[in-house]
Amino acid sequence: MRAAVLFHYKEPLKIEDIEIDDPKENEVMVQITATGMCHSDVNVFVGATPVPPPVVAGHEISGIVKKVGPGVTRVKPGDKVISAFIHPCGKCRNCISGHENLCETFSSVRLKGTMFDGTTRLKLKDGTPVRTFLGGGFAEYAIVHENALTVVPQDTNLERVAVLGCAGITGYGAVDSAKIEPGETVAVIGVGGVGLSVIQLLKASGAGRIIALGTKKWKLEKAMELGATDVINTKETDPVKALKEMTGGGPDVVIEAGGTQETVQMAIESVRIGGRVVLIGLPPVSAQIPLRIAMIVRNGITIIGNYGGRPRVDMPKLLELVKTGKYDPSKLVTGRFKLEEINDAIKLLEEGEAIRSLIIP
Ligand code: CU
Repeated sequence: MRAAVLFHYKEPLKIEDIEIDDPKENEVMVQITATGMCHSDVNVFVGATPVPPPVVAGHEISGIVKKVGPGVTRVKPGDKVISAFIHPCGKCRNCISGHENLCETFSSVRLKGTMFDGTTRLKLKDGTPVRTFLGGGFAEYAIVHENALTVVPQDTNLERVAVLGCAGITGYGAVDSAKIEPGETVAVIGVGGVGLSVIQLLKASGAGRIIALGTKKWKLEKAMELGATDVINTKETDPVKALKEMTGGGPDVVIEAGGTQETVQMAIESVRIGGRVVLIGLPPVSAQIPLRIAMIVRNGITIIGNYGGRPRVDMPKLLELVKTGKYDPSKLVTGRFKLEEINDAIKLLEEGEAIRSLIIP
């Protein structure tokens, strides 16, 4: 099958004809219809998230079940599915206690780029194993654990729902973990695929004022279209000062989806006394920031890290919001690219000129 393979960090991907094995226990082979491109993929391509090459990234997968491995019960060949970027084992303590987004088994292999048994299902023609980052959707086929998958109705346009796999479920998890009360003022830092999902889901959850922060005018306009009540261009205005002034002391909640040291600092500095900060943007693994600890203590600030959402619990609810028109994932898609054009899509995302590009194999 054809796949977009990263051979060396910071170099363009190559379209290679590679081998794919059959799915093993509880694994599913999905024929890819469309996969969205996320900044986390680019973090792998530049080595900031150091999954060892050769590796196939792509984790906002939609497609059709081609084959199932032994023991699979959740899907059958021919089902239309979306795959979350989280692949819960279903057996560890976190999975059993309702926190499958924090699956310990998945967490142990995530940056190794292997399946749970430590091996890969992809290899080059010469037999070299090819790793995958959270699924490996930039290819014609991918093998994922059945627990990552959600079956969607047969009349679903798969291109429309691909981005639920990361942008959608991450937004859902963020709003859920923030425990938004009706009328609360929420600032959202970052207006990419995740930030724009958060904004739509905040509106659906009854938040009051929703203030979007970003650097690109066209993305801030999109934020207004999708439910933001105010915007701040952080290039033109001091964002912390502006947030404090606009809200009389700071937002009740700040959701940080920018994933940079600067934006995390911005989130913690701007939230109101007693407020909550939810961190969902993923910076490079080595990123650190200095914290004003006394301010965090005296102001009773809660800092919550949240990773994605629960595929088997939250994805059906997210799909319900799509069905009722409260969350429109297609609003995040700004381009469609063939597999051969994937390097153009990467460039566009790095330049901040894309929200979600779909890669169509
Ligand atoms: Cu992602």
